[in-house]
Formats: sequence, structure tokens, C-alpha cells
Amino acid sequence: MAITGENPELFESRKADHIRLALEERMQATGGSGLHSIELIHEAFPEIDFNEVQIEQRLFSDSPISPLFISSMTAGHAGSVDLNLTMARVCEKRNWAMGVGSQRRQLTDSTADLEWSKIRKACPKVKFFGNIGVAQLIRTKVEDIRRLVDTLDATAMIVHTNPLQECMQPEGTPHFRGGLEALENLAKTLGRPVIVKETGCGFSGATLKRLNGIGVGAVDVSGFGGTHWGRIEGGRSKPGAKLNAVAETFRDWGIGTVESLEAALAVRSDYEVWASGGVRSGLDAAKLLAMGAKMVGLAKPIIEAALGGEEALDLRMGQLELELKIALFCTGSRNIAELQEKRVWRRQ
Ligand SMILES: Cc1cc2nc3c(=O)[nH]c(=O)nc-3n(C[C@H](O)[C@H](O)[C@H](O)COP(=O)(O)O)c2cc1C
Repeated sequence: MAITGENPELFESRKADHIRLALEERMQATGGSGLHSIELIHEAFPEIDFNEVQIEQRLFSDSPISPLFISSMTAGHAGSVDLNLTMARVCEKRNWAMGVGSQRRQLTDSTADLEWSKIRKACPKVKFFGNIGVAQLIRTKVEDIRRLVDTLDATAMIVHTNPLQECMQPEGTPHFRGGLEALENLAKTLGRPVIVKETGCGFSGATLKRLNGIGVGAVDVSGFGGTHWGRIEGGRSKPGAKLNAVAETFRDWGIGTVESLEAALAVRSDYEVWASGGVRSGLDAAKLLAMGAKMVGLAKPIIEAALGGEEALDLRMGQLELELKIALFCTGSRNIAELQEKRVWRRQ
């Protein structure tokens, strides 16, 4: 069956290209996140024992969960079932939430639902976040989005926005007119929290203000400084092709993760503020949590490890947790609430 008018082979090859290219260092906007300029302040007398440190907290007033989560990546293609199963299994073990990749294919091909029924059966406890792009949301009825939520039994639905990526993609759909209205309608009628995220280009303060008061539950700033979708889509075009050259012009386009996070916190919004984009260690995550993020997401480091199998991913996620716990301990914080109350960060 056609995928929103798209050739299924093109869809498969695009998804494979995305994973392959995302792992290349030149696709990373390393250094642009602003994380290097944030420092946590060492506490030589923490006056706590390491085993008192605990990182879990409540999400949407539900049961405690890790503040680290897997950022939305992949779904609906030949290689995605095994990868998603690997990620879901380790999330279940470590009590992380998992964002799934765009569920666009499920909108026109209900056989794609099988991916999630299989994974849900194997991992009944994982908190999943569904995912759809704003360009698709505008053209989709709320009841169809509800079906995406139901097949996953998702805790929340993520709507991603990616204007730069849609411009750089030969088969892209840069049609965003009516996006905010569609988002507000979804947030007010879905019956589950709606989370808005960028995909690595961040949000400005002005946009973050427009997202306030429309019913969204959280905004994940997903700022510049990690995986860059302008670069990845450009990398899919041949050297010398127009889009390849245009992508080069926009290789540093975006608002850094730290700058976006500060802008979001300044809004004093009715939504929770989450952060992602260029998070490469538990210490990076600790910095964003200390500044005020409620949850911190990682994409590229997770898929890189997941491709090595469940054990490799478990090792990587265990390392991220340990780094986060050490950052809490060495700032004298027993939990995330204390980390935030103590204001243990400064700009270098
Ligand atoms: C292979 C891959 C596929 C992705 N697919 C999606 C997607 O379908 N939906 C989405 O919202 N974000 C998607 N993203 C973006 C990530 O969720 C994240 O916002 C971005 O990669 C920045 O995080 P990072 O620097 O930790 O990679 C994808 C990222 C990667 C690496």
C-alpha cells in the first residue's frame, strides 16, 4: 500500500539512509549545544552516601521513572522491529521511557501496527511516546492519531517539527500552514498529554511563548548541537547536487540546546520543559536537569549502541545512569529535586 502517496521502496531506503548517516561524525553539530559552557559546582563534603542517590521522578503524575529517555527515532521499516525491540527491552529493565520514531506509515498501512503489538507484548511496562510530524498532523483527523496512541498504548503523543529537514529532503513536505491550530486541537481533544519537540534545531523564545496556553503537556527543545537533519538530508543527495550544496550552507542552522532550554524556562509556561540535542553523557544530562529540564532525551548515542545488541545498549544506558548519579553525588544532591533547588551550576 502507498505510504501517504510515497513509493514504499523510497520509504525503506530513506529510513536506512537516516540511520547510516546519523552515525557519521560529520552529521553531528558537536560543540553547538552550549553544554561545554555549563559547569556543575563540585561539593567536597556531600554529606550523603552514594547509595542514597536516586534519579527517578514522577512523569505526568504517574509512577517514578528515570529522567533519561530514548528520543524518538525509528519505526515502520524492515530494520526497525528488531532495533525497537532491543531498545524497548532495555527501557523496560532500566525504567526509561521510549519515544518511538514517526508513525507516519501506520496512517496509511495498518499492517505497520503489528510492529507495536509485538513489542508491547514483549515489554508490557514500558512508557512509550508516540510520534508524528506536524506536517502530517495538519492533514490527519484526531481519531487517526488516537489509533496510533492506542496501538502503542502510549503514555503521551509527541508531535515533532522539522522545517529545515523538510526543505532539504528531495521528497520532503514543507507544508506547515495551520500547524499551531492542529496542535492545539490535538492537545485539547486527544485525552493523553501531547509533547512538542524539534529534531535538533531548537526553539526561540517567541515560538515557546506561542506554545504556551494551547494545552501541550511538555516541550522538548531538541536543540542544535547533536544530530543535524539538514546535514543528514544533504548527505542523501549526491555531491554536486543542488540540495547537497544547499545543506552545506545550512550546516550550522539552529538554536543551541542550552539557549533553547533557558528560553523555555523563561516563559514560565503551563507545559513541562524537557531537553535533548547533543546530550552525549550522563554529565551532560545532569547539567540540563540542574538548569531545570524535567526530562532529558538522547538519540544518536542510543541507536549507535542498540545496533550492537541488547547487551551493548544495556552497558551504555548503565554508564549514562552512573554518570548522572555521580554528578548528583558530587554536587551533594540526593535526587533531581535537590539538584534543581541547590542551583549547583554556573557558566564557565
Ligand atoms: C536515526 C534517527 C532517526 C530519527 N527519527 C526521528 C523521528 O522519526 N521523529 C522525531 O521526532 N525525531 C527523530 N529523530 C530526532 C531525535 O529524536 C532527536 O531530536 C535528534 O536526533 C537530536 O538528538 P541527538 O543529538 O541525541 O541525536 C531521529 C534521530 C535519529 C538519530
